[in-house]
Amino acid sequence: MISKKNIEKINIDEDVLFDNNISQLLLSLDNKIRSGEFRIAIYGLGHVGSPLAAVWLRSGAHVIGVDKSKYILDSAKKGRTHIPEPGVNEAFEKGINNKKLSIYDDLVQASNDSFLKMICVPVLAADGTADLSAVKKVAVAIGKGLKKNDVVALNPSVPPGTTEDVVIPILQKQSGFTVENDFYVVYNPERIYEGRAIEDIEQRYPGVVAGYGKRSLEISKKIFSFIYQKGVISMSNIKSAETEKLFEGVYRDVNIALANELAIFSERLGINFWEVRNAANSQPFCHIHKPGIGVGGACIPVYPQFILKTAKVLEVDCKLTRSGRLLNNSMPKYCVRQALKLIKPKKYKDLRITLLGLAFRGGVSDTRLSPTYDVIKELHKLKVKEITVHDPLVKRDDVISKHKNTTLINDLDVALKKADLVIIIADHDEYKKLNSNNIGKSMLYDGRGIISEDKLTGVNHAMIGNIN
Ligand SMILES: NC(=O)c1ccc[n+]([C@@H]2O[C@H](COP(=O)([O-])OP(=O)(O)OC[C@H]3O[C@@H](n4cnc5c(N)ncnc54)[C@H](O)[C@@H]3O)[C@@H](O)[C@H]2O)c1
Repeated sequence: MISKKNIEKINIDEDVLFDNNISQLLLSLDNKIRSGEFRIAIYGLGHVGSPLAAVWLRSGAHVIGVDKSKYILDSAKKGRTHIPEPGVNEAFEKGINNKKLSIYDDLVQASNDSFLKMICVPVLAADGTADLSAVKKVAVAIGKGLKKNDVVALNPSVPPGTTEDVVIPILQKQSGFTVENDFYVVYNPERIYEGRAIEDIEQRYPGVVAGYGKRSLEISKKIFSFIYQKGVISMSNIKSAETEKLFEGVYRDVNIALANELAIFSERLGINFWEVRNAANSQPFCHIHKPGIGVGGACIPVYPQFILKTAKVLEVDCKLTRSGRLLNNSMPKYCVRQALKLIKPKKYKDLRITLLGLAFRGGVSDTRLSPTYDVIKELHKLKVKEITVHDPLVKRDDVISKHKNTTLINDLDVALKKADLVIIIADHDEYKKLNSNNIGKSMLYDGRGIISEDKLTGVNHAMIGNIN
């Protein structure tokens, strides 16, 4: 039994502590995890699952990595991932060498052999509806392999109610167990910023956890405090924790939309949005975001749609969330129109355009919902002669390879030489260093506002928020 002194140290709810079931489980939990007696299974070794697996490995745990992709599993067995996150490959390699990382293709066996199961598969919403098929498949397998006192954590961002209405019923049905009596369920949203995921989990943010009941919550607080140095914020119920993650996305989306609106306004007024933003943000209550040619990625454009779908059912009109989404969605088309104003006379059939950036933002290789695809669509409609897409980190792309006049290359000098018009879409560091020497005789539209005017002497150019 844990002593009174320890109660304060780990701040455990007393009702739960003196519940024999749980006190036994919590007793030396850290030793059980570090010794490998209690293993952690990560379902889905993608942008979220790989860094999370790496963090658990770095904490000394034994990790079971599970994925449906043979390529990902084969790479992981060699200690490699396809995720260009600092520290992830190193942790995988060490884990394979010291036998702390096991790779499974059998989802049920992984559940059988683990104590904590973390679901990190995607919930993409191509049309605004959450696709929960991967989560359901994994939940079925976990349920089949579930043992008494196991813990299941759902990590993807999901519409409010998903854990309790979808995941828990599957786990109970498949296992024949009852949540909170026989096993425990927590929701723990991942809050990483791609490109610094390990640092985010370990050092930057507190973890957010919510349990199905008191037992689930107390267990998860203890487990997750092993990896989050900033501790954990425990929430009173799962639905609130699910909604918390969506609020983060809505906040970003709506604020980017506001920046876009003010940038468009500045263009019409004939002033430089960036200068005004700098001055305005010197006031402590003003935090105007950066405008841009589009909002991409698997998170920010998706989460407002989960809120909007739920709002519709609740008959709440989330006007601001909806108009923010619409405005951000319209930005690729708007920026293409602005960029083409540089072209005189307007003969597009001979035009060679270079797009800088296929990743949805700088510093990452993730192309999911990238605005570059929308820009390409607009340019195809105009029947321009040739489109060259450059990205320093994206090596191949199935969408681009389908089009005859559109190619993806990794050599920036070649990409720039080919262009009549260059459009900056992602804020990769390489692009921030461009100047009139690199751009040469091409025209430039800066869709992220990353190159200062003084570097572009003699270049026919415009940028979002500053058309002159
Ligand atoms: N990428 C981010 O920055 C980020 C940040 C916070 C939260 N999220 C959330 O995390 C979720 C996962 O995102 P991600 O970026 O890691 O996705 P991802 O596509 O990079 O990775 C998902 C992995 O799951 C695997 N998978 C899919 N279906 C499976 C199945 N049935 N069984 C086993 N494995 C399966 C895939 O092969 C892939 O490796 C997203 O839906 C999002 O809600 C993502």
